[in-house]
Amino acid sequence: MRFIKTVALIVLATLAVSVIPVRSQETDAQDAEMQKKLEYSKQILDGLVTEDFDKILKGAKSLNEFGKRKWIENDSLAYRTQNQVFWFTTGALVMAAEEKNIDSATLSYTQMTHSCVNCHKTLRRQ
Ligand code: HEC
Repeated sequence: MRFIKTVALIVLATLAVSVIPVRSQETDAQDAEMQKKLEYSKQILDGLVTEDFDKILKGAKSLNEFGKRKWIENDSLAYRTQNQVFWFTTGALVMAAEEKNIDSATLSYTQMTHSCVNCHKTLRRQ
């Protein structure tokens, strides 16, 4: 009986040690990824105010790629809608930058920013 308890304890300890670090590493990696969204949007704002279309294009393409991926498991309609708006507006931003249309790019940037705020708002309220 004591032997079984010892084995069970060792197994549990090993599981705990192997599971905990992996989970925290995953969260760190995800946090770093999410921070990138902020960097790309700063890059776009920089491009907008200096009329540097290459900068806008690079940032918009990176964010649009982000929009194609599933960041978290959340099947609510509210979340999926914001994800869709984000993907659509970053796509429109790519097109505006390619056409070198500063007004259209500024409009899409504003619309995209709404989706950043609204998606976070949705998540916080769920
Ligand atoms: C479709 C939903 C969605 C959109 C749109 C979105 N985010 Fe996020 N964002 C998330 C999720 C999910 C997380 C992770 C939150 C968590 O881990 O609890 C996150 C986290 C972040 C973080 C990390 C800090 C924090 O509060 O956890 C930053 C910074 C961030 N997002 C910036 C942006 C920016 C900038 C945009 C727009 C360019 C944007 N996000 C658009 C869903 C979204």
